[in-house]
Amino acid sequence: MPTPTSIGWIGAGRMGYEMAARLAKGGADVLVWNRTRAKAEPLAQHGGKIADKLAELAARDIVFCMVATWNDVRQVMGELLSGKAQPRLVIECSSISLEGSAELREMLAKRGIDYLAAPVSGNAKVIKAGKLSFVCSGPKASFEAALPYLKMIGPAASYVGDGELARIVKICHNVFLGVVTQSLAEVTVLAQKAGVPRHAFLEFLNQSVMGSVFTRYKTPAFVNLDFKVTFTPELLRKDMDLGLDAGRRFEVPMPLASATRDLIQSMIGRGMREEDFATLLAQQAEASGIELKPENVEVKDGLS
Ligand SMILES: NC(=O)c1ccc[n+]([C@@H]2O[C@H](COP(=O)([O-])OP(=O)(O)OC[C@H]3O[C@@H](n4cnc5c(N)ncnc54)[C@H](OP(=O)(O)O)[C@@H]3O)[C@@H](O)[C@H]2O)c1
Repeated sequence: MPTPTSIGWIGAGRMGYEMAARLAKGGADVLVWNRTRAKAEPLAQHGGKIADKLAELAARDIVFCMVATWNDVRQVMGELLSGKAQPRLVIECSSISLEGSAELREMLAKRGIDYLAAPVSGNAKVIKAGKLSFVCSGPKASFEAALPYLKMIGPAASYVGDGELARIVKICHNVFLGVVTQSLAEVTVLAQKAGVPRHAFLEFLNQSVMGSVFTRYKTPAFVNLDFKVTFTPELLRKDMDLGLDAGRRFEVPMPLASATRDLIQSMIGRGMREEDFATLLAQQAEASGIELKPENVEVKDGLS
């Protein structure tokens, strides 16, 4: 019998926790480290093991990483590789820049460690619903080695080519997320101010050709104003900034992304940072002189 692949998992935040939980529930041998240990501890009930020190993960075959920014990735990777042991493959899933990802590839290549860039689309609820998607780049062989584990976490994993190509796909995806959310906030507030309840407007939109998985799963928040965080305004601003940086690098004008980035910035500037980025709706309502109230109507999120 071949020895089962051992997995190390760095980061048990909103996303990392649910991703690692799916691996553990699926029977994988997962050792999880999180800076704030307490957040990782409930993974033990699904069969996950919890590490006291990040360096313990270095002896694992494959190490996944899901933290926040490139600076955080650089920090945890430096600590992971501070000893003699090293994994065979690193799969980095945080949303980071092309440049950061290339620096990580170089750092790992010097030590002979394979590297797959594998950012994701979907929030923690999407992961729980088994609908997360990965976009991957790097050596095809690394993608193939990773695939059984990616498939335990989410059903869709697209391979888009060599190097850091997955990063630009994810950056484009999240720029679209920001712009679509702001646009959805604008038209929802416009419909409401003209007299249409939000649930009625969104019910129509969701069934129209403009409806999507995303507009459906944001509908409960827009209708009933449950802004419990799925993705923070600060993380979305990071992604809009990554998009605008890439726009400058490739000389692509991005007027809608620029305006949306500043609207997110204004939310953060006025202290709206703890709740979900869907509070773009609240900011839009305020700018339009209307008061938002929960409609208390049961609406489906389309995920279950
Ligand atoms: N939320 C979403 O819907 C979503 C969707 C797709 C992609 N993403 C991307 O996924 C990544 C994680 O997002 P999230 O929503 O899960 O964020 P989160 O809940 O804030 O979690 C961040 C994680 O990173 C860890 N971390 C941050 N800085 C660190 C450092 N310097 N050293 C060690 N650990 C550090 C945190 O540890 P502590 O627990 O100790 O703070 C936590 O485990 C981000 O790149 C985000 O852009 C998010």
